[in-house]
Amino acid sequence: MVCLGNICRSPLAEGILKQKIAENNLNWEVDSCGTSGWHDGKLPDARSIDVAKKYGIDITNQRSRQLNRADYIDFDLIFAMDSSNFQNIMYNAINEAQQAKVKLIMNELHVGRNMNVPDPYWDDNGFENIYKMLNRACDKIIENYG
Ligand code: 4NP
Repeated sequence: MVCLGNICRSPLAEGILKQKIAENNLNWEVDSCGTSGWHDGKLPDARSIDVAKKYGIDITNQRSRQLNRADYIDFDLIFAMDSSNFQNIMYNAINEAQQAKVKLIMNELHVGRNMNVPDPYWDDNGFENIYKMLNRACDKIIENYG
């Protein structure tokens, strides 16, 4: 799960998908990171921690880190939160096999619509909305790949 800062959207996506993986007894590895390293080592944003907690998910074990070369090898799928993240991730892929792993997360739910999970950093009211979007998208990920 990849966003820009790895403090708002992708930590929430990681927490939500991990909860569904446990509920479905799947054996998947999930991690999240940012295209930037601006918040390296930091906890998720308090507003993401709060909305996750509201839905029974603890994301306080997570720390921000930047996307790296190994991620393109270690993971089968790389989900971008928005089109800017998607472009940055694609730009740093070194071959077509790596590019093929990169997906816009909302396309799992709304195929081909290229919807963004909006950056909630400057919008205190945006967190509930992104939780709901990511929750539905993660249900689809379980359905599509489980
Ligand atoms: P995220 O949100 O990409 O969902 O983690 C942001 C976090 C930090 C910044 C922008 C977006 N920032 O400009 O520092």
